[in-house]
Amino acid sequence: MSPVPKPHESVEPLVASLPTPADLPDYARKTLEAIAPGFKLTDDRLREITHSFLHDFELGLSKYGEPMAMIPTYVTGVPNGKETGTFLALDLGGTNLRVCEVKLLGNHKFELRQQKYKVSDTLKTGEAVALFNYMADSVDAFLTERASIDPNQQNEDLLLGFTFSFPVEQTALARGELLTWTKGFSAKNAVGHDVGQLLQDAFDRRHMHVKCVAIVNDTVGTLMTRAYTGGDCLLGSIFGTGTNGAYVEDISRIPKLAGHPAVANGGKMVINCEWGAFNNTAGLRTVLPSTPFDNKLDRESINVRKQAFEKFISGMYQGEILRNILLTLVDHQPPILFKGESSATLNKHYGLDTAVMSDVENAQTLADVRTAVSAGLGLPLESVSDLDAWIVRWAAEMVATRAAKLSGAAVAAILVQTRHARLQGYGDPAEPIKTPGVMHVGVDGSMVEFYPHFEERLRSALRALVGEEAEKATKIGMAKDGSGVGAALCALQAMKQLTA
Ligand code: GLC
Repeated sequence: MSPVPKPHESVEPLVASLPTPADLPDYARKTLEAIAPGFKLTDDRLREITHSFLHDFELGLSKYGEPMAMIPTYVTGVPNGKETGTFLALDLGGTNLRVCEVKLLGNHKFELRQQKYKVSDTLKTGEAVALFNYMADSVDAFLTERASIDPNQQNEDLLLGFTFSFPVEQTALARGELLTWTKGFSAKNAVGHDVGQLLQDAFDRRHMHVKCVAIVNDTVGTLMTRAYTGGDCLLGSIFGTGTNGAYVEDISRIPKLAGHPAVANGGKMVINCEWGAFNNTAGLRTVLPSTPFDNKLDRESINVRKQAFEKFISGMYQGEILRNILLTLVDHQPPILFKGESSATLNKHYGLDTAVMSDVENAQTLADVRTAVSAGLGLPLESVSDLDAWIVRWAAEMVATRAAKLSGAAVAAILVQTRHARLQGYGDPAEPIKTPGVMHVGVDGSMVEFYPHFEERLRSALRALVGEEAEKATKIGMAKDGSGVGAALCALQAMKQLTA
């Protein structure tokens, strides 16, 4: 490996984890130095972003139709772990469709049988009715092949919680209109329709004895699951194909619900923030540091100027941001990467999977990075020099660090919104801060589960935003199978409401 060079002073990060190769030519160094500042997030910038997040929370809680939708879920409490019952769950939201049978055992534990089904691009982008028919067919197949309960032996319909991880403006636990598709879905004739009804219609067309009693966002499922298994939870959040969070809000602080009969008795309600849409109004109040690579991604996306925050941080997009950077370096004159050679993977829109970045960052030596780059980008090993490997690693680290730090800003915003912490540098809040104790955050998704250093980077931002004490008091724990178990817990709540 190249000898350690003298530290580079002017621009950060150039770079963190592997020493800068001494043979980085001057023109290359200058180009990287021109790119790096666009990705840098100072503590001040992070605070400004968090402050702006809180502003968007306020707006979304007061009015319908805001970009950050702050959706009331009609889930009025979190479980305590004693809940029991067997329910079906259907989960659509990322790469796969899952059908589960969940048995809540009532001692913070559960049993789960599940089956995954592939969702093709044709289904994602075709007619909604075909997508919902496919979901009903999958539930039918699951009941025949995998489930322990036999629908034909039951007197009553099987109750199903539908984890549908898109922005749905709910009017009741089982009712809600799709506001917009996200994460590459665009099926026609779904936006503006009640997705609970679309699913129920598909079941009914097949004469299935299944009743959809709750629509659940995956973040809500994560929150509920963490509370069920761990006894407490402040925030459920997803850092995967998309990103979003759900937390428990005082109904008195949701002005847009005023007068709604469901909240006549006050209390609390889980809010699905849809924080992926934060800063959609860019141009008016741009606080996210967009680079030309982000702008290109946005322009070429199927939801231009939508999901602005998500496009900076979720797994669906990070590989694409990296691809945009790498192509700029390949095309530079003189070439900075791979002697100007590209590959099918690099040339293809969304061709570079975020998992490749993960492999590149996981590699311990420059030789391993080379192997990961060669395999991930589909280039012969001899086309990837040590220097190329180092540059790809540099870029991956830069993109992923920004993503994790922005994720920290979202978590910080919830701690401040729920009066569990104070935003550093913004004076004292009007209301006193609750004594922190331990603050439980339930998480799920490929970024937080698999991406190296994700939590550590998120925490470094959290520390800068809410101080060390609050950061240390924040316990981040995976809520595995959150979508399935959460859907079951919401179905249980629906059942109680139905029989009340
Ligand atoms: C997208 C969806 C949101 C979901 C998140 C994580 O942001 O709009 O509903 O929670 O992805 O899957």
